[in-house]
Amino acid sequence: MRPVRVILNSKSPLINTPAWLALQDHFELVKKTHMLDLFEQDEQRFSRYSIQFKDMLLDYSKNRVTDETLGLLFDLARQQQVEEWRDRMFSGEKINTTEGRAVLHTALRNRSNKPVYVDGENVMPGINAELEKMRIFSEKVRSGSWKGYTGKAISDVVNIGIGGSDLGPNMVSRALSPYAKDHFNVHFVSTVDGMQIQQMLRDLNPESTLFVVASKTFTTQETMTNALTAKQWFLEHVGEHGKSSEDAIRRHFVAVSTNEAAVSGFGIDPENMFRFWDWVGGRYSLWSAVGLASILYIGMDNFIKMLEGAHEMDEHFQSAPLEKNIPVILAMLGIWYGNFFGAESSAILPYDHNLRMLPAYLEQADMESNGKSVDREGRQATYSTGKIIWGAEGINGQHAFYQLLHQGTRLIPADFIASVQFPVCIRDHCNILASNFLAQTEALMRGRTMEETREQLREAGIDPDEAETRLPHMVFEGNQPSNSIVLKKLTPRALGRLIAMYEHKIFVQGIVWNLNSYDQWGVELGKNLTKNILEEFETKRDLYPHDSSTHGLINWFRQNREDLR
Ligand code: F6P
Repeated sequence: MRPVRVILNSKSPLINTPAWLALQDHFELVKKTHMLDLFEQDEQRFSRYSIQFKDMLLDYSKNRVTDETLGLLFDLARQQQVEEWRDRMFSGEKINTTEGRAVLHTALRNRSNKPVYVDGENVMPGINAELEKMRIFSEKVRSGSWKGYTGKAISDVVNIGIGGSDLGPNMVSRALSPYAKDHFNVHFVSTVDGMQIQQMLRDLNPESTLFVVASKTFTTQETMTNALTAKQWFLEHVGEHGKSSEDAIRRHFVAVSTNEAAVSGFGIDPENMFRFWDWVGGRYSLWSAVGLASILYIGMDNFIKMLEGAHEMDEHFQSAPLEKNIPVILAMLGIWYGNFFGAESSAILPYDHNLRMLPAYLEQADMESNGKSVDREGRQATYSTGKIIWGAEGINGQHAFYQLLHQGTRLIPADFIASVQFPVCIRDHCNILASNFLAQTEALMRGRTMEETREQLREAGIDPDEAETRLPHMVFEGNQPSNSIVLKKLTPRALGRLIAMYEHKIFVQGIVWNLNSYDQWGVELGKNLTKNILEEFETKRDLYPHDSSTHGLINWFRQNREDLR
């Protein structure tokens, strides 16, 4: 008999706490309430359940909540000491206990410059110095005074990174593309599937390309493999010109990392290294030097505005009472659906083409943070924790997966995100997009009753018998919750606020579930097993025991690839 794999003899007490039990009782009373009735009972529902913060409007009135629900949810937040934990995070306490680290992405955008201490040292001078270094470097590159090895200015930046070292700067660059410099491109390589880098390099000129190798650890297999491929490609071209490879690398490769030894080992001059710190989690690192590729693209001034926007949201999160606190409200609504209604996922649906990468970005931010089943004390979580986060550009989703949102059997709360002012407004595109955004949340909430559907079929002249057959298929239950997050315009500042809002939402949920949201041990095992299989491929030998499935699959690769035999 195999030994027991996990010994969790104690269970997290959360579901037996007073605030949780009160919510459970309340849920039984209100679970069938239809939002349409709530709207009919209260003409002020929109104004009571919406908050304006700077240029952002959050409308959370299309949720299955009453004042009592919200009161109980805030009681739970208070019981779990959200405010106390929030203050501990901002003050630099090592709340990432399994790694013994502070969690201070907020210090990276601390535009007040008030001291923040880690181990007795104020981290602000280091942050400011790195920002200044990035400003000087990015201005040189963007102005053309930084020259490549043949004297050409840089026209293309390639960010090589994965996870937080890719998704953050990638999403920001897409979101703020209207602020980018003309004729200056940024590219992102993340997958180790050689297709991506090969296709990209084919279209690039090594004389005017700058590589940013971004990796907190500088040991990530995919990133280091891509970086070596890029270096090899680059040096082949340098060789053709008979130039010194050391000088050429210095002009075309920079690193973003916390690991100086590994950066030097790779052959990048530490002068060309932009630093950050172990208290910046990978998925929270876009505010740090990991943002370098996006800085080169949109310029330092815009990047600073994004930091300012995030700082504004930090201040709001720190000072607003829970009842008026945007990240807290969003977090507690998520808990209401996930833990009481049993919703398993949550959709992110931007109606803004430039925010098309936001769902992918938030997948990592949320699921790598709160995809945990053990609480901070190592006890088993007997309640669901992080929800499955997914999504796509909303207007495309309407013609793909919205059917399931409207008529499927699952409850899928969704965040609808839109900008009122678009950078491009050709003909009637803007109005059509905005109308769709507005209509979808209305349809999801309202639904369409049997009587309304019957009446519509009658008006359409459908034969009454045929209408009765169609009827059940055309009824919409409605009562599908959504938040509408509407930005006046997707500016750097607005983007900063939006991302910080989600970061704090994730934080609050992690605190309520009593998780450490800042480690990610769940990514380790697959990495270790990859090393074993890679060794078996390289040595063409069976070195490790595997189950018959994995063994069979390895052999299938071998049978179908001569070089593995
Ligand atoms: O494997 C997961 C992870 O560690 C993420 O947390 C991180 O964002 C990503 O890999 C990349 O890590 P690094 O920046 O160290 O290359």
